[in-house]
Amino acid sequence: MVNILVTRSSMPSMDEYIKEIEDIWDSHWLTNMGPKHKEFQKNLKEYLKVEQMDMFTNGHMALELSLQAMNLPRGSEIITTPFTFASTTHAIVRNRLEPVFCDIDPVDFTIDVKKIEDLITDKTSAIMPVHVYGNVCNIEEIQRIARKYDLKVIYDAAHTFGVEYHGLGIGTFGDVSCFSFHATKVFNSIEGGAACFRDEEFGLELYRLKNFGIRGPERVDGVGANAKMNEFCAAMGICNLRHVNEEIAKRKLVVERYREWLDNVEGVQLNPVQEDVKPNYAYFPVIFDEKTFGASRNEVFEALQEVGIGARKYFYPLTNTFECFHGKYDVNRTPVALHISKRVLTLPLYADLDVDTVDKICEVILKCKENIK
Ligand SMILES: Cc1ncc(COP(=O)(O)O)c(C=O)c1O
Repeated sequence: MVNILVTRSSMPSMDEYIKEIEDIWDSHWLTNMGPKHKEFQKNLKEYLKVEQMDMFTNGHMALELSLQAMNLPRGSEIITTPFTFASTTHAIVRNRLEPVFCDIDPVDFTIDVKKIEDLITDKTSAIMPVHVYGNVCNIEEIQRIARKYDLKVIYDAAHTFGVEYHGLGIGTFGDVSCFSFHATKVFNSIEGGAACFRDEEFGLELYRLKNFGIRGPERVDGVGANAKMNEFCAAMGICNLRHVNEEIAKRKLVVERYREWLDNVEGVQLNPVQEDVKPNYAYFPVIFDEKTFGASRNEVFEALQEVGIGARKYFYPLTNTFECFHGKYDVNRTPVALHISKRVLTLPLYADLDVDTVDKICEVILKCKENIK
């Protein structure tokens, strides 16, 4: 029996990391925006093609503090989607803002821009779309709506590290875009995250929020948290950034192999190939339609599990069905999200996944179809 997990964290060689952290033993500077933090931030800004950025302990704190730094009216409504990781919705709720769930597009799974305007009320203050699986949202339309109704836009860009749209870094869109550098992502700094923005004042507020509200050595004029990235995570980021292009190129080969097997299989829907987008091959989601494929998502999941292959029901359940919300949200208002979440399985995908394993995974999947026939 094999043991394949859905992802495997990218790491530099141990020698490379040790060489990188040697300086830390010289300086004894472990955290608080030290030399590694500075170097990593500079390299990242270049890589992501963004002008302004700050870094955090993780992607969630980037999102949560970005929302806080916007100083939106308490209890105001944020239009978002439930087809995402818990973090997106929790960042809203923990800011005492009200998530209003918009449905998703059935092809790329990002917010369905045709349905946003119907949800806008006089309490709406922002839109929080997710570039889910690395798929780019309909940026032009979101921008048009935001301008028309004077709304802020906070992109959850956790899945879109290195993605470009029309040659521009994905972090340049919206008022702020937040990335995750979690161990399971295309690029990691063990744990880590970043927020990219334009407004310098907003950046100062964000910086204060991640550092206890401290404005100067003898001045604390805000109530902040602690969400600083430490030097060891920054060092891991510096190392991993050297190899990320190579990692993405390897992911592309894995995705191409999956597509050779699964493109054009009846009852199977794959992630779209988006125009004008430089992709990062972050995930390989597959939607199984039981009626036409012959087996359900759960049957495929179990068949893979039986032979030691860990696929993931990502995103299931939808965030608007979480128990912590005590039935507050009506899931039937997001029927496409509900439909997709019951049928989706993300297959193992990481740079070093070999094509023979991809072949095995696809054989198991297609066998489910045959068995039913
Ligand atoms: C869509 C989405 N948003 C936010 C996050 C939060 O990022 P982190 O785990 O770095 O806090 C994640 C991933 O974990 C995610 O997948």
